[in-house]
Amino acid sequence: MRKIGVLTSGGDTPGMNSAIRAVFKEGVKQNFTVLGIFHGYRGLIEGNIREMNHSDVENIMHKGGTILRTARSEEFKSPEGQKRALSVAKAYGIEGIVIIGGDGSYRGAKILNDLGVATIGVPGTIDNDMGYTDYTIGFNTAVNTITNEIYNIRDTMRAHDRVGVIEVMGRNCGDIALWAGVAGGADMILVPECPMPWDEAAQRLQDYRLRGKLTSIVVMAEGAGKAEDFAAYVRESTGIEIKAIVPGYTQRGGNPVAYDRILASQLGQRAVELLVEGKGGRAVGTRRNSIIDVPLEDAIGKVDSFDEKLYDFNNNVLARF
Ligand code: ADP
Ligand code: F6P
Repeated sequence: MRKIGVLTSGGDTPGMNSAIRAVFKEGVKQNFTVLGIFHGYRGLIEGNIREMNHSDVENIMHKGGTILRTARSEEFKSPEGQKRALSVAKAYGIEGIVIIGGDGSYRGAKILNDLGVATIGVPGTIDNDMGYTDYTIGFNTAVNTITNEIYNIRDTMRAHDRVGVIEVMGRNCGDIALWAGVAGGADMILVPECPMPWDEAAQRLQDYRLRGKLTSIVVMAEGAGKAEDFAAYVRESTGIEIKAIVPGYTQRGGNPVAYDRILASQLGQRAVELLVEGKGGRAVGTRRNSIIDVPLEDAIGKVDSFDEKLYDFNNNVLARF
């Protein structure tokens, strides 16, 4: 029987399990043996691979993390590591691999595909920083998690008439901050795409106070700086009592929301279909409610378009009037 593999790579994201389940089930339907490759590219190099069966994917769709585990492999970035991975894939008779991960994982996928193992990229990152697709798997869940946390934090900030600055993940992308900030009614959103000088930000918080608004919530993307540094700056320049909060990995774990489960299922299925069609070297995604696929080289490094109108509406209308 023909064999395909599936692996998760880079930062985990809620919904990876839904994608693995879809790859397995569509793979079985297409008469493939599906091999689970553990710990991303590291597991491929080390031969940490085993045949999956139905019980592996039972009751996993709703769970965060990844049953295949994930990793960041420096060794795979070298030509020697890539050659080793290729020879392991050949030794196992793997014809194609579905690679669930972000931009870095796609770079690895392109290399493997060029070496002769067909690969398909499935966008798995909470950051939503892949410009060829409207959404990446896990983004919507992270936004929901942070939105809920904003409301918890607002309760206690309000009780003390404090300002809270919440630093959220996203590497260089401000999407989690923007979306969760709008949904959480943030009084200010700081993102790398539209840098706001800190003196201006501090002045705005002062103005809110003078207007009688004693509690404000600032949502800050990690790409815009450290919440601790911003809090120290505001404290020193204005005397406002401000607390820095870093939810960290709480926003990467947890059960995926329904949207992420559905998207992951659709993308996992399409990835296997592409392998059946003999179309390696592609990335699946979603555009305007349709499932799309593009060459990996068109997906790699494609900067996400940032919604400046929504950002402006939040910071200059919703938060000010
Ligand atoms: P993500 O996929 O979430 O962007 P990383 O950037 O950490 O996460 O990449 C995940 C893994 O993909 C890396 O640890 C490495 O094994 C592989 N990878 C990343 N960049 C490259 C590259 N330029 N060439 C080959 N492999 C890469
Ligand atoms: O890419 C996902 C992500 O969670 C980023 O938002 C964050 O900057 C990074 O991974 C954290 O990586 P690590 O798991 O290595 O701490």
